[in-house]
Amino acid sequence: RHFLQTLGRVTLVTIVGASATFYYIAQKERHPGPQLPFDPSKKTLVILGSGWGATSLLKGLDTSDYNTIVVSPKNFFLFTPLLPSVAVGTLNARSILQPTRYVTRHKSRQVLVIEAEAKEVDPVNKTVTLSDDSEIQGQISSTTIPYDYLVYAVGAETQTFGIPGVREHACFMKELHDAEKMQRRFLDCVESAAFPGQSDEEKDRLLHMVVVGGGPTGIELSGELRDFLEEDLKSWYPELASRIRITLVEALPSVLPSFSKELIAYTERTFKESDIDILTKTMVKKVNEKSVLLKGPDGVEREVPCGMVVWAAGNTARQISRDLMAKLPEDQTNKRGIAVDDYLRMKGARDIFAIGDCTASSYAPTAQVASQQGSYLARVFKLIAKKDNLQADLTHAETGEEAEKLKKQVDKVKLKPFHYSHQGSLAYIGSDKAIADLPIFGREWTSGGVATFMFWRSAYLSTLFSLRNRSLVAGDWIRVKLWGR
Ligand code: FAD
Ligand code: NAI
Repeated sequence: RHFLQTLGRVTLVTIVGASATFYYIAQKERHPGPQLPFDPSKKTLVILGSGWGATSLLKGLDTSDYNTIVVSPKNFFLFTPLLPSVAVGTLNARSILQPTRYVTRHKSRQVLVIEAEAKEVDPVNKTVTLSDDSEIQGQISSTTIPYDYLVYAVGAETQTFGIPGVREHACFMKELHDAEKMQRRFLDCVESAAFPGQSDEEKDRLLHMVVVGGGPTGIELSGELRDFLEEDLKSWYPELASRIRITLVEALPSVLPSFSKELIAYTERTFKESDIDILTKTMVKKVNEKSVLLKGPDGVEREVPCGMVVWAAGNTARQISRDLMAKLPEDQTNKRGIAVDDYLRMKGARDIFAIGDCTASSYAPTAQVASQQGSYLARVFKLIAKKDNLQADLTHAETGEEAEKLKKQVDKVKLKPFHYSHQGSLAYIGSDKAIADLPIFGREWTSGGVATFMFWRSAYLSTLFSLRNRSLVAGDWIRVKLWGR
Protein backbone atom coordinates (compact mmCIF):
# COMPACT_ATOMS: atom_id res chain seq x y z
CA ARG A 1 0.00 0.00 0.00
CA HIS A 2 2.87 2.28 0.87
CA PHE A 3 4.47 1.61 -2.52
CA LEU A 4 1.21 2.43 -4.35
CA GLN A 5 0.75 5.63 -2.35
CA THR A 6 4.30 6.76 -3.21
CA LEU A 7 3.77 5.87 -6.88
CA GLY A 8 0.51 7.86 -6.89
CA ARG A 9 2.24 10.90 -5.37
CA VAL A 10 5.16 10.72 -7.83
CA THR A 11 2.72 10.43 -10.75
CA LEU A 12 0.69 13.39 -9.48
CA VAL A 13 3.80 15.54 -9.00
CA THR A 14 5.05 14.57 -12.50
CA ILE A 15 1.71 15.45 -14.12
CA VAL A 16 1.46 18.78 -12.28
CA GLY A 17 5.13 19.58 -13.08
CA ALA A 18 4.75 18.73 -16.79
CA SER A 19 1.50 20.74 -17.06
CA ALA A 20 3.08 23.75 -15.35
CA THR A 21 6.12 23.59 -17.67
CA PHE A 22 3.86 23.25 -20.74
CA TYR A 23 1.74 26.20 -19.51
CA TYR A 24 4.85 28.31 -18.83
CA ILE A 25 6.32 27.64 -22.31
CA ALA A 26 2.96 28.29 -24.00
CA GLN A 27 2.50 31.58 -22.11
CA LYS A 28 6.05 32.64 -22.97
CA GLU A 29 5.35 31.93 -26.64
CA ARG A 30 2.07 33.83 -26.40
CA HIS A 31 3.19 36.88 -24.42
CA PRO A 32 6.77 37.81 -25.35
CA GLY A 33 8.41 40.87 -23.73
CA PRO A 34 8.55 44.46 -25.07
CA GLN A 35 10.59 45.21 -28.21
CA LEU A 36 12.98 47.98 -29.24
CA PRO A 37 11.45 50.49 -31.71
CA PHE A 38 12.85 51.20 -35.20
CA ASP A 39 16.18 53.05 -35.06
CA PRO A 40 16.81 55.60 -37.86
CA SER A 41 20.57 55.02 -37.56
CA LYS A 42 20.19 51.35 -38.56
CA LYS A 43 20.06 50.01 -42.09
CA THR A 44 16.78 48.77 -43.56
CA LEU A 45 16.50 45.09 -44.36
CA VAL A 46 13.50 44.15 -46.51
CA ILE A 47 12.49 40.48 -46.71
CA LEU A 48 10.12 39.43 -49.48
CA GLY A 49 8.11 36.32 -48.60
CA SER A 50 6.95 34.48 -45.49
CA GLY A 51 7.73 30.92 -46.59
CA TRP A 52 10.47 28.48 -45.61
CA GLY A 53 13.42 30.68 -46.55
CA ALA A 54 12.09 33.96 -45.15
CA THR A 55 10.77 32.46 -41.91
CA SER A 56 13.94 30.57 -41.19
CA LEU A 57 15.91 33.81 -41.73
CA LEU A 58 13.52 35.71 -39.44
CA LYS A 59 13.91 33.07 -36.75
CA GLY A 60 17.69 33.36 -36.71
CA LEU A 61 18.03 37.08 -37.45
CA ASP A 62 19.26 39.43 -34.75
CA THR A 63 16.78 42.23 -35.46
CA SER A 64 18.58 44.62 -33.12
CA ASP A 65 21.05 45.16 -36.00
CA TYR A 66 18.46 46.31 -38.58
CA ASN A 67 15.11 47.94 -39.19
CA THR A 68 13.43 44.89 -40.66
CA ILE A 69 10.39 44.89 -42.95
CA VAL A 70 8.68 41.70 -44.14
CA VAL A 71 6.45 41.88 -47.22
CA SER A 72 4.27 38.95 -48.22
CA PRO A 73 0.77 38.48 -49.65
CA LYS A 74 0.22 35.91 -46.88
CA ASN A 75 0.64 37.02 -43.28
CA PHE A 76 1.56 33.49 -42.24
CA PHE A 77 4.06 30.70 -42.77
CA LEU A 78 2.68 27.50 -44.32
CA PHE A 79 4.23 24.16 -43.36
CA THR A 80 4.00 22.72 -46.90
CA PRO A 81 5.08 19.10 -46.14
CA LEU A 82 1.75 18.54 -44.38
CA LEU A 83 -0.40 20.37 -46.95
CA PRO A 84 -1.68 17.16 -48.63
CA SER A 85 -3.02 16.10 -45.21
CA VAL A 86 -5.09 19.30 -45.11
CA ALA A 87 -6.49 18.51 -48.56
CA VAL A 88 -8.23 15.39 -47.22
CA GLY A 89 -9.12 16.77 -43.79
CA THR A 90 -6.58 14.76 -41.76
CA LEU A 91 -5.23 18.06 -40.48
CA ASN A 92 -6.94 21.38 -39.92
CA ALA A 93 -5.54 24.26 -41.95
CA ARG A 94 -4.66 26.32 -38.87
CA SER A 95 -2.59 23.47 -37.44
CA ILE A 96 0.08 23.97 -40.12
CA LEU A 97 0.02 27.78 -40.25
CA GLN A 98 2.12 30.06 -38.17
CA PRO A 99 1.25 33.77 -38.26
CA THR A 100 4.34 35.75 -39.26
CA ARG A 101 3.66 38.21 -36.44
CA TYR A 102 3.89 35.27 -34.04
CA VAL A 103 7.53 34.98 -35.09
CA THR A 104 8.32 38.69 -35.29
CA ARG A 105 6.79 39.49 -31.88
CA HIS A 106 9.55 37.44 -30.30
CA LYS A 107 12.36 39.48 -31.86
CA SER A 108 14.41 42.00 -29.88
CA ARG A 109 13.59 44.91 -32.22
CA GLN A 110 10.15 45.33 -33.73
CA VAL A 111 9.66 44.07 -37.28
CA LEU A 112 7.18 45.67 -39.67
CA VAL A 113 5.02 43.05 -41.38
CA ILE A 114 3.17 44.24 -44.49
CA GLU A 115 0.58 41.97 -46.08
CA ALA A 116 1.10 42.87 -49.72
CA GLU A 117 2.51 41.50 -52.93
CA ALA A 118 5.80 42.90 -54.17
CA LYS A 119 5.15 43.99 -57.75
CA GLU A 120 8.51 45.35 -58.78
CA VAL A 121 12.06 45.40 -57.51
CA ASP A 122 14.30 48.20 -58.73
CA PRO A 123 17.86 46.93 -58.19
CA VAL A 124 19.43 50.26 -59.26
CA ASN A 125 17.51 52.64 -56.98
CA LYS A 126 17.14 49.90 -54.36
CA THR A 127 13.36 50.08 -53.93
CA VAL A 128 10.45 47.64 -53.86
CA THR A 129 6.96 48.57 -55.05
CA LEU A 130 4.21 46.67 -53.31
CA SER A 131 0.48 46.49 -53.49
CA ASP A 132 -2.32 45.18 -51.30
CA ASP A 133 -4.36 43.00 -53.64
CA SER A 134 -6.59 41.53 -50.95
CA GLU A 135 -10.39 41.75 -51.13
CA ILE A 136 -10.57 44.62 -48.64
CA GLN A 137 -8.34 47.61 -49.16
CA GLY A 138 -7.92 50.95 -47.41
CA GLN A 139 -7.41 54.33 -49.09
CA ILE A 140 -3.80 53.44 -49.82
CA SER A 141 -3.10 50.06 -51.35
CA SER A 142 0.18 50.62 -53.15
CA THR A 143 3.53 52.06 -52.09
CA THR A 144 7.26 52.01 -52.80
CA ILE A 145 9.77 51.36 -50.02
CA PRO A 146 13.56 51.74 -50.08
CA TYR A 147 15.96 49.07 -48.83
CA ASP A 148 19.61 48.86 -47.89
CA TYR A 149 19.56 45.06 -48.13
CA LEU A 150 16.90 42.94 -49.77
CA VAL A 151 16.27 39.25 -49.21
CA TYR A 152 14.33 37.86 -52.11
CA ALA A 153 12.46 34.72 -51.00
CA VAL A 154 9.22 34.71 -53.00
CA GLY A 155 9.31 30.99 -53.89
CA ALA A 156 7.99 29.68 -57.20
CA GLU A 157 4.63 28.95 -58.78
CA THR A 158 3.19 25.75 -60.23
CA GLN A 159 4.45 24.86 -63.69
CA THR A 160 1.67 24.34 -66.24
CA PHE A 161 3.84 24.23 -69.41
CA GLY A 162 1.03 26.24 -71.04
CA ILE A 163 -1.02 23.04 -71.30
CA PRO A 164 -4.59 24.00 -72.21
CA GLY A 165 -7.23 23.79 -69.49
CA VAL A 166 -4.87 23.33 -66.53
CA ARG A 167 -5.48 26.74 -64.95
CA GLU A 168 -9.22 26.60 -65.68
CA HIS A 169 -10.08 23.04 -64.61
CA ALA A 170 -7.35 21.52 -62.43
CA CYS A 171 -6.64 22.02 -58.72
CA PHE A 172 -3.08 22.86 -57.67
CA MET A 173 -1.36 21.72 -54.46
CA LYS A 174 0.89 24.61 -53.49
CA GLU A 175 -1.00 27.06 -51.31
CA LEU A 176 -3.48 26.64 -48.50
CA HIS A 177 -6.41 27.71 -50.69
CA ASP A 178 -5.39 24.98 -53.20
CA ALA A 179 -5.79 22.29 -50.52
CA GLU A 180 -9.12 23.75 -49.41
CA LYS A 181 -10.37 23.96 -53.00
CA MET A 182 -9.36 20.34 -53.65
CA GLN A 183 -11.14 19.13 -50.53
CA ARG A 184 -14.38 20.91 -51.55
CA ARG A 185 -14.11 19.62 -55.10
CA PHE A 186 -13.43 16.04 -54.04
CA LEU A 187 -16.39 15.91 -51.66
CA ASP A 188 -18.58 17.62 -54.26
CA CYS A 189 -17.72 14.87 -56.75
CA VAL A 190 -18.67 12.19 -54.22
CA GLU A 191 -21.95 13.91 -53.27
CA SER A 192 -22.89 14.47 -56.93
CA ALA A 193 -22.21 10.79 -57.62
CA ALA A 194 -24.53 9.96 -54.71
CA PHE A 195 -27.33 12.06 -56.22
CA PRO A 196 -30.41 9.86 -56.84
CA GLY A 197 -30.72 8.59 -60.39
CA GLN A 198 -27.11 9.27 -61.42
CA SER A 199 -26.11 6.88 -64.22
CA ASP A 200 -23.31 4.35 -63.56
CA GLU A 201 -21.20 5.94 -66.28
CA GLU A 202 -21.53 9.38 -64.68
CA LYS A 203 -20.80 7.93 -61.23
CA ASP A 204 -17.59 6.39 -62.58
CA ARG A 205 -16.57 9.69 -64.14
CA LEU A 206 -17.25 11.74 -61.01
CA LEU A 207 -15.40 9.26 -58.82
CA HIS A 208 -12.28 9.08 -60.98
CA MET A 209 -9.54 11.29 -59.46
CA VAL A 210 -6.51 12.04 -61.63
CA VAL A 211 -3.27 13.25 -60.03
CA VAL A 212 -0.76 14.66 -62.51
CA GLY A 213 2.93 14.44 -61.56
CA GLY A 214 4.73 11.53 -59.93
CA GLY A 215 7.04 13.77 -57.89
CA PRO A 216 6.76 13.75 -54.09
CA THR A 217 3.71 16.10 -54.10
CA GLY A 218 1.68 13.85 -56.43
CA ILE A 219 2.70 10.70 -54.55
CA GLU A 220 1.89 12.08 -51.10
CA LEU A 221 -1.44 13.44 -52.26
CA SER A 222 -2.44 10.13 -53.88
CA GLY A 223 -1.52 8.33 -50.64
CA GLU A 224 -3.61 10.73 -48.57
CA LEU A 225 -6.60 10.36 -50.94
CA ARG A 226 -6.35 6.60 -50.61
CA ASP A 227 -6.35 6.85 -46.78
CA PHE A 228 -9.46 9.03 -46.85
CA LEU A 229 -11.16 6.49 -49.09
CA GLU A 230 -10.19 3.42 -47.05
CA GLU A 231 -10.60 4.85 -43.56
CA ASP A 232 -13.70 7.02 -43.96
CA LEU A 233 -15.45 7.07 -47.32
CA LYS A 234 -15.90 3.29 -47.48
CA SER A 235 -18.16 3.42 -44.43
CA TRP A 236 -19.87 6.71 -45.34
CA TYR A 237 -20.67 5.80 -48.94
CA PRO A 238 -20.62 1.97 -49.02
CA GLU A 239 -22.55 1.94 -52.30
CA LEU A 240 -20.01 4.23 -54.03
CA ALA A 241 -16.68 3.39 -52.44
CA SER A 242 -15.82 0.54 -54.82
CA ARG A 243 -16.22 2.93 -57.77
CA ILE A 244 -13.70 5.53 -56.50
CA ARG A 245 -10.50 5.36 -58.56
CA ILE A 246 -7.22 7.22 -58.22
CA THR A 247 -4.90 7.47 -61.22
CA LEU A 248 -1.43 8.97 -61.02
CA VAL A 249 -0.02 10.17 -64.34
CA GLU A 250 3.73 10.67 -64.79
CA ALA A 251 5.53 11.66 -67.98
CA LEU A 252 8.85 10.03 -67.00
CA PRO A 253 9.52 6.24 -66.95
CA SER A 254 9.16 6.14 -63.16
CA VAL A 255 7.74 8.08 -60.26
CA LEU A 256 9.89 9.78 -57.60
CA PRO A 257 13.05 10.12 -59.72
CA SER A 258 14.92 11.71 -56.80
CA PHE A 259 14.50 8.62 -54.58
CA SER A 260 16.51 5.38 -54.71
CA LYS A 261 15.43 2.50 -56.96
CA GLU A 262 14.32 0.26 -54.05
CA LEU A 263 12.04 2.96 -52.72
CA ILE A 264 10.55 3.64 -56.15
CA ALA A 265 9.77 -0.08 -56.48
CA TYR A 266 8.38 -0.18 -52.92
CA THR A 267 6.12 2.83 -53.62
CA GLU A 268 4.86 1.30 -56.87
CA ARG A 269 4.10 -1.99 -55.06
CA THR A 270 2.30 -0.20 -52.23
CA PHE A 271 0.23 1.81 -54.72
CA LYS A 272 -0.69 -1.37 -56.59
CA GLU A 273 -1.87 -3.01 -53.36
CA SER A 274 -3.86 0.15 -52.59
CA ASP A 275 -5.50 0.12 -56.04
CA ILE A 276 -3.87 3.37 -57.13
CA ASP A 277 -3.12 3.15 -60.86
CA ILE A 278 0.23 4.56 -61.94
CA LEU A 279 0.55 5.50 -65.60
CA THR A 280 4.20 6.23 -66.38
CA LYS A 281 5.58 7.50 -69.71
CA THR A 282 2.21 9.18 -70.05
CA MET A 283 1.78 12.91 -70.68
CA VAL A 284 -1.29 14.97 -69.91
CA LYS A 285 -1.83 17.04 -73.06
CA LYS A 286 -5.04 18.83 -72.13
CA VAL A 287 -7.39 19.17 -69.19
CA ASN A 288 -11.10 19.51 -69.96
CA GLU A 289 -13.94 20.22 -67.57
CA LYS A 290 -14.88 16.53 -67.36
CA SER A 291 -11.86 14.68 -68.75
CA VAL A 292 -8.11 14.65 -69.39
CA LEU A 293 -6.37 14.00 -72.67
CA LEU A 294 -3.51 11.52 -72.16
CA LYS A 295 -0.70 10.56 -74.52
CA GLY A 296 0.60 7.11 -73.62
CA PRO A 297 3.97 5.42 -74.29
CA ASP A 298 2.59 4.16 -77.62
CA GLY A 299 2.09 7.79 -78.73
CA VAL A 300 -1.67 7.32 -78.91
CA GLU A 301 -3.88 10.04 -77.41
CA ARG A 302 -7.01 9.09 -75.47
CA GLU A 303 -9.58 11.04 -73.53
CA VAL A 304 -10.20 9.79 -69.99
CA PRO A 305 -13.31 10.97 -68.12
CA CYS A 306 -12.74 12.17 -64.55
CA GLY A 307 -14.31 14.23 -61.78
CA MET A 308 -11.20 15.95 -60.47
CA VAL A 309 -7.67 16.66 -61.68
CA VAL A 310 -4.92 17.66 -59.26
CA TRP A 311 -1.94 19.24 -60.99
CA ALA A 312 1.41 18.65 -59.25
CA ALA A 313 3.80 18.95 -62.19
CA GLY A 314 6.62 20.97 -60.61
CA ASN A 315 7.71 24.59 -60.28
CA THR A 316 8.41 27.60 -62.47
CA ALA A 317 9.64 31.16 -61.75
CA ARG A 318 7.10 33.79 -60.71
CA GLN A 319 6.42 36.78 -62.98
CA ILE A 320 8.11 39.20 -60.54
CA SER A 321 11.27 37.05 -60.63
CA ARG A 322 11.24 36.98 -64.42
CA ASP A 323 10.83 40.80 -64.47
CA LEU A 324 13.70 41.25 -62.02
CA MET A 325 15.96 38.93 -64.04
CA ALA A 326 15.09 40.83 -67.23
CA LYS A 327 16.53 43.97 -65.61
CA LEU A 328 19.93 42.28 -65.32
CA PRO A 329 20.14 40.43 -68.66
CA GLU A 330 23.91 39.96 -68.62
CA ASP A 331 24.08 38.17 -65.28
CA GLN A 332 20.63 36.57 -65.08
CA THR A 333 20.52 34.14 -67.96
CA ASN A 334 19.09 31.03 -66.27
CA LYS A 335 15.37 30.73 -67.10
CA ARG A 336 14.77 28.46 -64.08
CA GLY A 337 15.24 31.30 -61.62
CA ILE A 338 17.52 33.84 -59.97
CA ALA A 339 21.23 33.07 -60.34
CA VAL A 340 23.19 33.60 -57.11
CA ASP A 341 26.85 33.38 -56.10
CA ASP A 342 28.29 31.18 -53.34
CA TYR A 343 27.15 33.70 -50.72
CA LEU A 344 23.56 33.71 -52.09
CA ARG A 345 23.97 37.22 -53.51
CA MET A 346 21.96 37.80 -56.66
CA LYS A 347 24.36 37.99 -59.57
CA GLY A 348 24.58 41.46 -61.09
CA ALA A 349 22.65 43.18 -58.28
CA ARG A 350 23.90 45.20 -55.34
CA ASP A 351 22.75 44.15 -51.89
CA ILE A 352 20.13 41.62 -53.00
CA PHE A 353 20.27 38.08 -51.60
CA ALA A 354 18.01 35.37 -53.04
CA ILE A 355 17.09 32.07 -51.38
CA GLY A 356 14.82 29.06 -51.84
CA ASP A 357 12.67 28.03 -54.77
CA CYS A 358 13.03 31.35 -56.60
CA THR A 359 16.72 30.62 -57.25
CA ALA A 360 18.32 28.48 -59.95
CA SER A 361 21.02 26.45 -58.27
CA SER A 362 22.32 22.90 -58.12
CA TYR A 363 20.06 22.22 -55.11
CA ALA A 364 16.56 20.75 -55.37
CA PRO A 365 13.75 23.19 -54.65
CA THR A 366 13.02 21.90 -51.16
CA ALA A 367 12.10 23.28 -47.76
CA GLN A 368 15.33 21.80 -46.44
CA VAL A 369 17.44 23.90 -48.78
CA ALA A 370 15.38 27.08 -48.30
CA SER A 371 15.47 26.85 -44.51
CA GLN A 372 19.21 26.19 -44.39
CA GLN A 373 19.74 29.16 -46.70
CA GLY A 374 17.56 31.33 -44.43
CA SER A 375 19.58 30.33 -41.34
CA TYR A 376 22.82 30.95 -43.24
CA LEU A 377 21.67 34.47 -44.20
CA ALA A 378 20.82 35.22 -40.55
CA ARG A 379 24.49 34.56 -39.74
CA VAL A 380 25.64 36.55 -42.78
CA PHE A 381 23.57 39.57 -41.70
CA LYS A 382 25.14 39.43 -38.25
CA LEU A 383 28.58 39.68 -39.88
CA ILE A 384 27.45 42.38 -42.32
CA ALA A 385 26.12 44.47 -39.39
CA LYS A 386 29.45 44.02 -37.60
CA LYS A 387 31.36 45.08 -40.70
CA ASP A 388 29.04 48.05 -41.36
CA ASN A 389 29.49 49.23 -37.76
CA LEU A 390 33.27 48.94 -37.96
CA GLN A 391 33.28 50.80 -41.26
CA ALA A 392 31.17 53.59 -39.73
CA ASP A 393 33.67 53.81 -36.84
CA LEU A 394 36.49 53.87 -39.36
CA THR A 395 35.13 56.97 -41.10
CA HIS A 396 34.98 58.70 -37.71
CA ALA A 397 38.41 57.49 -36.53
CA GLU A 398 40.45 60.38 -35.17
CA THR A 399 43.98 59.01 -35.30
CA GLY A 400 45.83 57.05 -37.97
CA GLU A 401 46.63 54.33 -35.45
CA GLU A 402 42.96 53.95 -34.53
CA ALA A 403 42.02 53.83 -38.23
CA GLU A 404 44.65 51.16 -38.92
CA LYS A 405 43.35 49.01 -36.06
CA LEU A 406 39.76 49.32 -37.30
CA LYS A 407 40.80 48.53 -40.87
CA LYS A 408 42.40 45.29 -39.67
CA GLN A 409 39.21 44.40 -37.82
CA VAL A 410 37.12 45.09 -40.93
CA ASP A 411 39.40 42.84 -43.00
CA LYS A 412 39.00 40.06 -40.47
CA VAL A 413 35.21 39.93 -40.96
CA LYS A 414 34.94 37.35 -43.72
CA LEU A 415 31.82 35.66 -45.03
CA LYS A 416 31.93 31.90 -45.53
CA PRO A 417 30.18 30.51 -48.61
CA PHE A 418 26.85 28.71 -48.15
CA HIS A 419 27.20 24.99 -47.58
CA TYR A 420 24.16 22.71 -47.87
CA SER A 421 23.95 19.69 -45.61
CA HIS A 422 21.48 17.11 -46.93
CA GLN A 423 19.51 15.51 -44.10
CA GLY A 424 17.75 12.97 -46.34
CA SER A 425 14.44 12.68 -48.17
CA LEU A 426 11.17 11.52 -46.68
CA ALA A 427 7.75 11.02 -48.22
CA TYR A 428 4.41 9.65 -47.07
CA ILE A 429 2.92 7.11 -49.49
CA GLY A 430 -0.39 6.29 -47.77
CA SER A 431 -1.54 3.15 -45.89
CA ASP A 432 0.44 4.34 -42.82
CA LYS A 433 3.67 3.84 -44.77
CA ALA A 434 6.46 6.26 -45.60
CA ILE A 435 9.76 6.05 -47.46
CA ALA A 436 13.10 7.52 -46.43
CA ASP A 437 16.46 8.01 -48.11
CA LEU A 438 18.81 9.01 -45.31
CA PRO A 439 22.55 9.70 -45.42
CA ILE A 440 23.99 7.96 -42.34
CA PHE A 441 27.75 7.99 -41.73
CA GLY A 442 28.36 8.90 -45.35
CA ARG A 443 26.23 6.02 -46.68
CA GLU A 444 22.75 6.14 -48.19
CA TRP A 445 20.30 4.26 -45.98
CA THR A 446 16.89 3.47 -47.43
CA SER A 447 13.79 2.41 -45.58
CA GLY A 448 10.08 2.07 -46.20
CA GLY A 449 7.07 0.95 -44.20
CA VAL A 450 5.15 1.55 -41.01
CA ALA A 451 8.22 2.23 -38.83
CA THR A 452 9.40 4.82 -41.37
CA PHE A 453 5.92 6.34 -41.18
CA MET A 454 6.34 6.78 -37.40
CA PHE A 455 9.74 8.34 -38.08
CA TRP A 456 8.16 10.61 -40.76
CA ARG A 457 5.56 11.80 -38.27
CA SER A 458 8.04 12.44 -35.47
CA ALA A 459 10.46 14.18 -37.88
CA TYR A 460 7.78 16.59 -39.09
CA LEU A 461 6.33 17.09 -35.63
CA SER A 462 9.72 18.20 -34.38
CA THR A 463 10.35 20.35 -37.48
CA LEU A 464 7.16 22.35 -36.93
CA PHE A 465 8.16 25.82 -35.82
CA SER A 466 6.19 26.24 -32.59
CA LEU A 467 4.78 24.34 -29.64
CA ARG A 468 1.34 25.60 -30.70
CA ASN A 469 1.63 23.93 -34.14
CA ARG A 470 3.03 20.73 -32.65
CA SER A 471 0.13 20.47 -30.21
CA LEU A 472 -2.45 21.19 -32.93
CA VAL A 473 -1.00 18.65 -35.39
CA ALA A 474 -0.64 15.93 -32.73
CA GLY A 475 -4.22 16.66 -31.63
CA ASP A 476 -5.49 16.34 -35.22
CA TRP A 477 -3.78 12.96 -35.65
CA ILE A 478 -5.41 11.68 -32.46
CA ARG A 479 -8.80 13.13 -33.50
CA VAL A 480 -8.64 11.34 -36.87
CA LYS A 481 -7.71 8.01 -35.24
CA LEU A 482 -10.66 8.32 -32.84
CA TRP A 483 -13.41 9.93 -34.92
CA GLY A 484 -12.21 9.93 -38.53
CA ARG A 485 -11.83 12.91 -40.81
P1 FAD B 1 7.84 29.37 -50.20
O1 FAD B 1 7.87 28.56 -48.97
O2 FAD B 1 6.90 28.98 -51.30
O3 FAD B 1 7.55 30.88 -49.79
C1 FAD B 1 7.41 31.90 -50.71
C2 FAD B 1 6.79 33.08 -49.99
O4 FAD B 1 6.79 34.23 -50.83
C3 FAD B 1 5.35 32.83 -49.60
O5 FAD B 1 5.15 33.32 -48.30
C4 FAD B 1 4.57 33.67 -50.60
O6 FAD B 1 3.33 34.12 -50.10
C5 FAD B 1 5.53 34.82 -50.81
N1 FAD B 1 5.36 35.55 -52.06
C6 FAD B 1 4.94 35.10 -53.25
N2 FAD B 1 4.93 36.09 -54.15
C7 FAD B 1 5.36 37.20 -53.50
C8 FAD B 1 5.55 38.55 -53.89
N3 FAD B 1 5.30 38.96 -55.14
N4 FAD B 1 5.97 39.43 -52.97
C9 FAD B 1 6.21 39.04 -51.69
N5 FAD B 1 6.06 37.78 -51.27
C10 FAD B 1 5.65 36.87 -52.17
N6 FAD B 1 10.19 20.27 -49.27
C11 FAD B 1 10.86 19.46 -48.42
O7 FAD B 1 12.06 19.65 -48.22
N7 FAD B 1 10.21 18.44 -47.78
C12 FAD B 1 8.90 18.20 -47.94
O8 FAD B 1 8.35 17.27 -47.36
C13 FAD B 1 8.17 19.05 -48.82
N8 FAD B 1 6.86 18.85 -49.01
C14 FAD B 1 6.16 19.68 -49.85
C15 FAD B 1 4.81 19.46 -50.05
C16 FAD B 1 4.09 20.27 -50.89
C17 FAD B 1 2.63 20.02 -51.09
C18 FAD B 1 4.74 21.33 -51.57
C19 FAD B 1 3.96 22.24 -52.48
C20 FAD B 1 6.09 21.55 -51.40
C21 FAD B 1 6.82 20.73 -50.54
N9 FAD B 1 8.18 20.91 -50.34
C22 FAD B 1 8.87 20.10 -49.47
C23 FAD B 1 8.89 21.97 -51.05
C24 FAD B 1 8.96 23.24 -50.16
O9 FAD B 1 7.67 23.62 -49.75
C25 FAD B 1 9.57 24.39 -50.92
O10 FAD B 1 10.81 24.01 -51.43
C26 FAD B 1 9.74 25.58 -49.99
O11 FAD B 1 8.48 26.07 -49.64
C27 FAD B 1 10.56 26.69 -50.62
O12 FAD B 1 10.68 27.74 -49.71
P2 FAD B 1 10.69 29.24 -50.23
O13 FAD B 1 10.86 30.10 -49.04
O14 FAD B 1 11.64 29.40 -51.35
O15 FAD B 1 9.25 29.45 -50.88
P1 NAI C 1 8.43 17.58 -59.22
O1 NAI C 1 9.06 18.53 -60.16
O2 NAI C 1 9.28 16.86 -58.26
O3 NAI C 1 7.60 16.49 -60.02
C1 NAI C 1 6.69 16.85 -61.03
C2 NAI C 1 6.50 15.65 -61.94
O4 NAI C 1 5.47 15.95 -62.87
C3 NAI C 1 7.74 15.34 -62.75
O5 NAI C 1 8.15 14.02 -62.46
C4 NAI C 1 7.29 15.51 -64.20
O6 NAI C 1 7.85 14.54 -65.05
C5 NAI C 1 5.79 15.34 -64.09
N1 NAI C 1 5.06 16.04 -65.18
C6 NAI C 1 5.25 17.29 -65.61
N2 NAI C 1 4.38 17.59 -66.60
C7 NAI C 1 3.63 16.49 -66.81
C8 NAI C 1 2.57 16.17 -67.68
N3 NAI C 1 2.08 17.06 -68.57
N4 NAI C 1 2.02 14.94 -67.65
C9 NAI C 1 2.48 14.03 -66.73
N5 NAI C 1 3.47 14.28 -65.87
C10 NAI C 1 4.05 15.50 -65.89
O7 NAI C 1 7.29 18.44 -58.46
P2 NAI C 1 6.70 18.29 -57.00
O8 NAI C 1 6.33 16.91 -56.68
O9 NAI C 1 5.63 19.33 -56.89
O10 NAI C 1 7.91 18.73 -56.07
C11 NAI C 1 8.46 20.03 -56.16
C12 NAI C 1 9.67 20.12 -55.23
O11 NAI C 1 9.23 20.02 -53.87
C13 NAI C 1 10.66 18.99 -55.46
O12 NAI C 1 11.96 19.49 -55.32
C14 NAI C 1 10.39 18.03 -54.36
O13 NAI C 1 11.54 17.34 -53.96
C15 NAI C 1 9.87 18.94 -53.24
N6 NAI C 1 8.93 18.18 -52.43
C16 NAI C 1 9.46 17.32 -51.53
C17 NAI C 1 8.63 16.52 -50.78
C18 NAI C 1 9.25 15.55 -49.85
O14 NAI C 1 10.45 15.54 -49.68
N7 NAI C 1 8.45 14.73 -49.19
C19 NAI C 1 7.16 16.59 -50.90
C20 NAI C 1 6.72 17.50 -51.93
C21 NAI C 1 7.58 18.26 -52.65
